[in-house]
Amino acid sequence: MATQMFEGKGHAAIYQKYRFAPGEELQQVILSYLREKRPNAVELVVDVGCGTGQGTRFLAKHFKKVVGTDISEAQIQEAKDAPFLPNVSYLVCPAEELPLEDASVDVLASFTAAHWFDIEKFMKEANRVLKPGGCVVICTYTMDMSLRYGNCSEKLTKIFRESWDLLLKYSHNKVKHVMEDYKMIFEALPFPDKKRITDIYDKIPMTVSGVVGYLESVSPYQVFMKNDPEAAKSLLPETEKRMLETMGVSSRETPVEFWVRHVCVLGCKGQ
Ligand SMILES: C[S@@+](CC[C@H](N)C(=O)[O-])C[C@H]1O[C@@H](n2cnc3c(N)ncnc32)[C@H](O)[C@@H]1O
Repeated sequence: MATQMFEGKGHAAIYQKYRFAPGEELQQVILSYLREKRPNAVELVVDVGCGTGQGTRFLAKHFKKVVGTDISEAQIQEAKDAPFLPNVSYLVCPAEELPLEDASVDVLASFTAAHWFDIEKFMKEANRVLKPGGCVVICTYTMDMSLRYGNCSEKLTKIFRESWDLLLKYSHNKVKHVMEDYKMIFEALPFPDKKRITDIYDKIPMTVSGVVGYLESVSPYQVFMKNDPEAAKSLLPETEKRMLETMGVSSRETPVEFWVRHVCVLGCKGQ
């Protein structure tokens, strides 16, 4: 069964505003793998569970034609409202039933989304739509996140973690795949030529308001809002206040380094 957690228009707008694109290190891992495995012209790349298009726009810089797909109409609408890119189009559809021809796709990518899919069905679908020799790139950022600012990095990270830990109580069972560094997703990929990289670290430029906005964008926060709106609403300004006090600054637009660890499952379908 597909899990639909990103349906609300309000959530999609927050998502578009605060979710970050794949960082430099992750981009390099993906591009060098694809250069090695697919050195000839890549015609079609599909970004499954594209959300508001963070990964799609990165792919569009490097490949001829990119299709972003997502089960949520609200997310796809936000993606379409972003500045137009002539080589990108979007489709609303489940990852498990892609409206694409057999053997028509060179690269099937997914960023921070595959844990929501019905993994078994998605893998069958990947196998069906990929051309012989086509590749999959399935990544996620993990909860291994930290903040750096002057000499208070440790304290800031602790504040961020405390807020995250509160939210984690409201996380869906499928988030376990992220906690397990996509081990099960890697094992389910039906190609012998595959690897899983678990130590990709990226520095994402952020501000205090961006970090707090990121917390607002995560799916457990939306569940927290439904269950306990008062507590959920106060968590964000409280987190922000604690961060600003610790940093000794007053502006929520103060830059701060946000470090994330990514996991990436890469694989190549046989000829
Ligand atoms: C955490 S967001 C990631 C979005 C984007 N790829 C990014 O990197 O920010 C997960 C996305 O997966 C989508 N999704 C969840 N289950 C899906 C399914 N079964 N088929 C297609 N999309 C799905 C959600 O609607 C959501 O937009």
